[in-house]
Amino acid sequence: LLGVGGIVTLGAGGYWITEGRSVEDGFSFDTPLRIPPELGSELIDGERVFRLSAQSGETELVPAVAFATLGFNGAYLAPTIRAVRGERVRVHVTNELDMPTTAHWHGMILPARQDGTPHQTIRPGNTWTAAWQINQPPATLWYHPHPHGQTELQISRGMAGLFLIDPAEPTPGLPSNYGVDDIPLIIQDVTIQPGGGKPGTPTGSPIGRIGNTAIVNGTHRPQFHASTNLVRFRILNASAARCYNLTLSTGEPFHLVATDGGLLSAPVTLTNLLLSPAERAEILVEVRQGAEIVVRSVPHELGMSNRDNIVSGAHDTVDLLRITGAAVLGGQRSLPRSLPSDPLPLPDSASVRRNFVLGDVTINGQTMEMNRIDTRVTAQTTERWIVTNASTRAHNFHIHGTQFTVHALTGSASTVTIPGWKDTVFIPPKSTAELVIPFGDHVDPTTPYMYHCHLLWHEDQGMMAQYTLNETRGMPSSATKEG
Ligand code: C2O
Ligand code: CU
Repeated sequence: LLGVGGIVTLGAGGYWITEGRSVEDGFSFDTPLRIPPELGSELIDGERVFRLSAQSGETELVPAVAFATLGFNGAYLAPTIRAVRGERVRVHVTNELDMPTTAHWHGMILPARQDGTPHQTIRPGNTWTAAWQINQPPATLWYHPHPHGQTELQISRGMAGLFLIDPAEPTPGLPSNYGVDDIPLIIQDVTIQPGGGKPGTPTGSPIGRIGNTAIVNGTHRPQFHASTNLVRFRILNASAARCYNLTLSTGEPFHLVATDGGLLSAPVTLTNLLLSPAERAEILVEVRQGAEIVVRSVPHELGMSNRDNIVSGAHDTVDLLRITGAAVLGGQRSLPRSLPSDPLPLPDSASVRRNFVLGDVTINGQTMEMNRIDTRVTAQTTERWIVTNASTRAHNFHIHGTQFTVHALTGSASTVTIPGWKDTVFIPPKSTAELVIPFGDHVDPTTPYMYHCHLLWHEDQGMMAQYTLNETRGMPSSATKEG
């Protein structure tokens, strides 16, 4: 199978994998990379007010192949929202679709009622408003729908946008000219079949829908022409199930400067980086005059059976973006030595320890129940969650309403854990992640936040559970008001 050009079908299930779709196989990557527009806002009574509208349409994601797509303020993907740390924001979200949806602010630390979970469903024709104060470090967050059982369909058809939290002043040493040297890369995979594209088609993969074609910011085989010597890419894996193992075709390293929830304390030099669905990474790439660099996902081990690795796309080489360097590069920047980051929680500060076991599509043997609160957490405490993937499938683990650190990842995968803020962590089969989680102060004993696998088909199958934030013990307690 490997090394064959073009599209190959696999087995009786009829799913497709990407084969030989790389620059080296003669495919030209020369369509200018689209950049998602920044969403305009109004300042009203001290709040920054945004308007979003969930829409559907048809999009030629691949030349001459039209896909049924979904988006916010357009037929595919969504504008980039930006707000400054400390600002109060208000977002009005109108549902112009013919199905229920929600708008979830992935990675945001905010009251559960504003979080856009299945508990805040927006019916067709209705408008829902979320308002909160941004109170967390600058970061590349994102927003997407979260309707119970329909999340894979809606995200994989295009409902995904970035929500950037900006520092009050640009960070010295970090490129921050959006669309010029600060470049978002929203990666999705779609399936091209004879007769058209079917991005929503479920496949027989054990981890969900795997497409055969990568699309970046809605651009097929994109090219980015760099005009500066140092480019910051903010990468979001917005795919349903596919993990990307990012490398540069030149074999040169790149520099990780931020994980899901904010900046690292200093750049970390890497030659590859695995991003599972919903994870983000900000990297700096050094570009020389006239350079030719391909951002490429190379085969990786998910720790599953060989067959499951193949049907999950883990054996694929997928070229994502061709970077070309201008003949004359502006702004001779050097790599920053250190970065302004918020201090990480100390593992010893955790007062409560909990265990979670991931099955094929379960958490602690159960699937999601909207009326069941699975975990009651005391607000403003730090907990240690031990999450074990006991199944043979790859999973990841996302917790709403907080940012955590991965203290350790042990088991089948030899993984280096980089100290940084995370809201989603990849957990290969037979592996255990130890998370240190400082919980927030938005007490609400009756409205839950979610935690779940972010492989969207698993999430839709109910691999999700709920926690609430409750008042400190000893205070007049609402912990008895159990719902
Ligand atoms: Cu990206 Cu529960 O969400
Ligand atoms: Cu999963």
